[in-house]
Amino acid sequence: MQKQLEELHTQALSELERVSESRELELWRVHYLGKKSKLTQLLRSLATLPLEERQSIGAQANEIKKALETGLIEKREILEETSLISSLEQEGLDTTLPGRPISAERLHPVTQTLEEIYDVFRNMGFQIFEGPDVEWDYYNFEALNIPQWHPSRDTFATLWVDSPGEGARLLRTHTSPMQIRIMENSRPPIRAIIPGRCYRYEATDATHESMFYQVEGLAVDKNITLTDLKGTLFEFCHSLFGSERKIRFRCDYFPFVEPGVEIAIQCLACNGTGCRVCSYSGWVEILGAGMVHPDILKRVDIDPEVYTGFAFGLGVERIPMLRYDIDDIRLFYSNDLRFLKQF
Ligand code: PHE
Repeated sequence: MQKQLEELHTQALSELERVSESRELELWRVHYLGKKSKLTQLLRSLATLPLEERQSIGAQANEIKKALETGLIEKREILEETSLISSLEQEGLDTTLPGRPISAERLHPVTQTLEEIYDVFRNMGFQIFEGPDVEWDYYNFEALNIPQWHPSRDTFATLWVDSPGEGARLLRTHTSPMQIRIMENSRPPIRAIIPGRCYRYEATDATHESMFYQVEGLAVDKNITLTDLKGTLFEFCHSLFGSERKIRFRCDYFPFVEPGVEIAIQCLACNGTGCRVCSYSGWVEILGAGMVHPDILKRVDIDPEVYTGFAFGLGVERIPMLRYDIDDIRLFYSNDLRFLKQF
């Protein structure tokens, strides 16, 4: 009996090995594990055997039953897998091709640049503020020493917003109005940077967009001098463009600062020899700055005899444009993934 059982075991397993489709597997199951199978019948007739035999044969038969059941389950899994693959192949799917890479999320190049700018100024103790995109004429112009008649208004191609009876409203043309708002609401010492969108009613071309980003900076305290302005902004330029990069520092005019300055860096594209990017001058202007005008300090009730300050405003898109040799500012906001995915 023992020998018979062993033979049954090996025969069943070798037949199972040869099974190659699920219909055959079902026949195999009925034959070896079904109600009428030898094994089942033997297990049923155990009771008729003498006690000793009953125990040893019973144990052996049960073990074989378990082994066959495990074999059945394993075979079933293998067959299911192969049938899935072959049906995919019939549909024309090559299951040996590597999977498509899942594209990683990434930040917009302008956002990446902003984060870098925040890091530099955060390390120097500046706090980040935000302000409204729709601004009053008062903050955008009047309070910044640009009254109605001032010729400097002409340089800001302003988008006006209808605001009947409430005073003139507009889409801010620069982030400088936030200088006033911050000084109205806090007292020195002030160290602030203000990122934000600005708008100008301009024909767009490779270097002009009607919407762009600026980052404004403002520091007001006792004993702040032009040297602090220069040191802070040189540090900023060197952090972003490398310590070797030459920086040009010279006079400029903005009604809300006195004196006013302009900072340019040596062109990244040609290293100063002159090219299309820098209009063949070797330099690229990246920010305007200056010492906060004493009239402005007075306007927000800060005593210019006690406090002084500096302010600056920089164009954000220009930084990635210079670094990555991007020749059209409109690419940033046209939502073309072929462009955006490169960063
Ligand atoms: N707001 C100025 C501009 O848009 C830049 C600036 C900011 C200049 C702060 C001086 C001080 O051109």
